Amino acid sequence: MFYGLSKFLKNILPKQLFYRGLLIVATPIIILQITISIVFFDSLWIKNNKGMTRALVNEIKTFVDAYKNDINNKEYIITLFRDHLQFDIKFKPNKILPEKKSERWFSPIDRSLRRELKSKSFNFWFDTTSYKKLIELKIEYKNGYFQFFIPRERLTNSSVRLFALWITLPAVLIVTIAIIFLKNQTRPIIKLAEASERFGRGEQIEEFRPSGALEIRKAGYEFDRMRKRIIRHLNQRSEMLSGISHDLRTPLTRIKLQLALIKDENISKKLSDNVDEMEKMLNEYLQFSRSSFSDKTEKFDISDLVNKTIENFEKNNIQCQILEKVMFNGRKNLIQRCFNNLIDNSLKYAKKVKITHEKNKNNLIFFIEDDGQGIPAEEYENVFKPFYKIDKGRGDAKSSVGLGLSIASDIIKSHGGYIELGKSEMGGLKVKISLPT
Ligand SMILES: Nc1ncnc2c1ncn2[C@@H]1O[C@H](COP(=O)(O)OP(=O)(O)OP(=O)(O)O)[C@@H](O)[C@H]1O
Ligand SMILES: [Mg+2]
Repeated sequence: MFYGLSKFLKNILPKQLFYRGLLIVATPIIILQITISIVFFDSLWIKNNKGMTRALVNEIKTFVDAYKNDINNKEYIITLFRDHLQFDIKFKPNKILPEKKSERWFSPIDRSLRRELKSKSFNFWFDTTSYKKLIELKIEYKNGYFQFFIPRERLTNSSVRLFALWITLPAVLIVTIAIIFLKNQTRPIIKLAEASERFGRGEQIEEFRPSGALEIRKAGYEFDRMRKRIIRHLNQRSEMLSGISHDLRTPLTRIKLQLALIKDENISKKLSDNVDEMEKMLNEYLQFSRSSFSDKTEKFDISDLVNKTIENFEKNNIQCQILEKVMFNGRKNLIQRCFNNLIDNSLKYAKKVKITHEKNKNNLIFFIEDDGQGIPAEEYENVFKPFYKIDKGRGDAKSSVGLGLSIASDIIKSHGGYIELGKSEMGGLKVKISLPT
């Protein structure tokens, strides 16, 4: 049960740090305000009003009784009450109380006044709303009624509206200040998250300046150190690879020259095939290591790029269904190399290729399918390993190194995407590339 409850709470609570922080600040304030309002309204305001109303009605009762018993000096009593109690009293003979009541049933003031007047068994009519500072009260007496105008402050001491204003104004002020502070506190975290996301996608970040509270600043600082370490590592790897490939090419050329001098043609042919293969590997590595660290991230039309890549191949066998103007932010040459490797594979191990495209909210998805014999599911992981070839007899073994897929996967991963293999409806391999936009 608790699991269900906590799941429900998790679902309805806001996901963003800013709103969570705001909730933590605002909830206690709102609860406090409501509690104070209820306590004030119920125990102070209403009780106080009741006491005042009772005193007022007692005074009215005193007036009516005195008026009734004093035969000679009725005017004097009215003056007495007007001067000392601020009652404006008139007796209206031969008139009856208005039929239409103008009391408000929801108003606590009206309610307690009504209750007190009833307890003194008066026949009455009153109106607390028509005048701003006065209350009009009519009480039946003999053949007419008394009309009282009583200052409103005799009934209630403070205005609820004023209280509500004073209680909500500071709350709004506190929440506004909290919003400003929280925005400032969450901004560095958002900045850090964006920088990590961009770095994960392989984009270049000029300079990351950590900011915010101590812990966030530390996280930002550590992220920056890690980022620089990774870049150094990658550069070292690429430089080393390109160094090795470059250095090995010289002795390889020498070997090729010496091979020409060997008389036995059979041996010479076998050796030179191997040397060719080695040369191709070195060239591929050299090319890859060069392009990977010299490329800059840019915005480009990926469908244009794919169309250009296709032109390098036998176009008749390639069916391309990509919409025009699909913009993407990435390293153009690497993406082209990736498509190139995949199309090259398909044309090498199959006859017909189909390239399709899908787009969802956060990703660009491409499918490259062919009608060849495909790759068995248990080999899906292996083919991404460098220099791995399923079957040396397949395809044109000589021009194949086993680097194509591992390079393609490297490229896609460095853009923050992923690459997946599967079975195509055309019968062969289906490669799925997903790139975050
Ligand atoms: N479209 C495909 N259909 C069937 N098998 C494939 C396909 N693509 C790749 N393979 C298999 O996966 C292996 C690895 O492919 P990868 O592209 O990495 O190397 P390669 O094509 O042999 O060499 P390179 O691309 O470096 O010239 C290939 O040797 C091949 O056996
Ligand atoms: Mg290949």
